[in-house]
Amino acid sequence: MSSDGFSGEPPPGAAADWTIDQGWDAYTAAEHAVWDALYERQAALLPGRACDEFLHGLDALNLHRGGIPDFRQINVDLQRLTGWTVVAVPGLVPDDVFFKHLANRRFPAGQFIRRADQLDYLQEPDIFHDVFGHVPMLTDPVFADYMQAYGEGGRRALGLGQLHNLARLYWYTVEFGLLETPAGPRIYGAGIVSSRTESLFALDDPSPNRIGFDLERLMRTLYRIDDFQQVYFVVPSLRALLDATLQDFAPIYRRLEGAADIAIDAVLPGDRVFSRGTQAYASGRG
Ligand code: PHE
Ligand code: CO
Repeated sequence: MSSDGFSGEPPPGAAADWTIDQGWDAYTAAEHAVWDALYERQAALLPGRACDEFLHGLDALNLHRGGIPDFRQINVDLQRLTGWTVVAVPGLVPDDVFFKHLANRRFPAGQFIRRADQLDYLQEPDIFHDVFGHVPMLTDPVFADYMQAYGEGGRRALGLGQLHNLARLYWYTVEFGLLETPAGPRIYGAGIVSSRTESLFALDDPSPNRIGFDLERLMRTLYRIDDFQQVYFVVPSLRALLDATLQDFAPIYRRLEGAADIAIDAVLPGDRVFSRGTQAYASGRG
């Protein structure tokens, strides 16, 4: 760990905290067109699927104006609304660097955008996933506090050697979370809202389980990073999510050490089941 608290060596040209200039003026017309194609697809699909907090965030940040957003512009509104800012990074950053940014209400976002032949799937988070997927929710005051708390909790979990359990919480909430509303489950997870196919699958497909959020149950559950999820967890409200995570996790981590992992397709007696999946999609994939 270096003297400023960041571990590892940032790539050449990056600052000690791994941030880089977004370089907005250097995006090509073709790159802006990829953003617009992705944006238009998702903007048409998400009303009635994404939660209101997400849709309001798109409006609040004026993300409808077309082209890859300039962080200097987004940050004016984001900073005013919740004190968050977006910072550009070259790609994935080390865990401690990531958590330190979150704890300081900075969201590290990839600077590059996928190619036109990668609209449907990309393993690495690009600017569309990071900005379209994650940043609208940061305009919500409760979710904004949750993400900061997660950053602090991440640093703590690293110190305790417990990141594997905490990572599942990020996965099943920040990336793939559903929110209960009077109209039924709605999407808030960035991995879903930024994906055309998973925006449909997560809500409509009969294959996955949809289960009520339970912190310890969730933290025991395995996950897959390479395909649609086999289980989605539904939070009753963003406030309930924040409240559940404000407790001290150290005793939870201790309990989890002695507890077996839960299979990705399991439905347990105590689960609040929104829908019991057929798992047909996952079975078909072998
Ligand atoms: N309360 C957690 C802890 O004690 C921190 C945390 C908050 C983790 C919010 C995730 C989300 O470590
Ligand atoms: Co993400």
